[in-house]
Amino acid sequence: MSEATPATIERLSRRTGIAPDYIRDRLGPPAPGHGPGPAPALLADEAMIERVLVQETSFFRHAAQWTLLGSLLRDGSTFPARPLQVWSAGCATGEEVWSLAYLLQSLGSGASRILGSDISPTAIRIAARGTYTRLEAMGSFRDLPEFARNAFPRRSGESWSAPASLRSMVRFEVHNLLDPVPAALEGHPADLVFCRNLLIYFTEAATSQALARLAGAMRKGAILVLGAAESMRPTALFEPLEAAGATVWRRTAAAAGTGA
Ligand SMILES: C[S@@+](CC[C@H](N)C(=O)[O-])C[C@H]1O[C@@H](n2cnc3c(N)ncnc32)[C@H](O)[C@@H]1O
Repeated sequence: MSEATPATIERLSRRTGIAPDYIRDRLGPPAPGHGPGPAPALLADEAMIERVLVQETSFFRHAAQWTLLGSLLRDGSTFPARPLQVWSAGCATGEEVWSLAYLLQSLGSGASRILGSDISPTAIRIAARGTYTRLEAMGSFRDLPEFARNAFPRRSGESWSAPASLRSMVRFEVHNLLDPVPAALEGHPADLVFCRNLLIYFTEAATSQALARLAGAMRKGAILVLGAAESMRPTALFEPLEAAGATVWRRTAAAAGTGA
């Protein structure tokens, strides 16, 4: 049985930013005989949101972006000061965050701080546990680049648990990207923000609101990484930086509104 009435879909879309058509597809048609009626309880909303979310992710997903990021980190002009303040918004089950921690530590930036956030409490629990098992196919370790191959499980059934040195760099938090920036970033503008494969599900209005939120959390010159298949028009807030077959976005000096 689904409670996906038009009013419910509209409410969930306003809450998450996800487009109504996509929510409708994920939840299926309303149960027969379900009229407009009173709004379902908040708890039901949480459960429905979990059903709508797509938590597809893997370590070092989209190799070209990691190659570009590695060269920006090495050349020093994009990230002149260390340690770095990093935010992975919509980090799902955390593979992206642990990949960032591994890359930064291997480049000598092990004192950096990385915040991983997601709207899903279930995903954040898995992320914070930091233990992943290699599956036969399509698992967390399917995209490992050459430089990381030896550090992560190579055989199906083997597990990897984040070591203490990476755990000390990372914290996770349940956070809705449409809400004000997490308190952990207040007064600590981010040098690098990942927000990959999330805005593709958003309405246009929610995308603008989310980009304004992200911009508000970043210092001038900071880098925003979107999903490899996601693009945007250059705006007053972000300009493209292209190299090595990937595009990232540099925060301009323009002031960000709340977008709310
Ligand atoms: C497809 S996953 C992307 C994971 C990772 N960034 C990657 O590219 O591999 C999208 C994530 O966005 C999260 N998400 C969706 N709407 C959100 C919102 N309004 N605020 C925060 N996270 C959201 C989902 O829970 C999901 O974990």
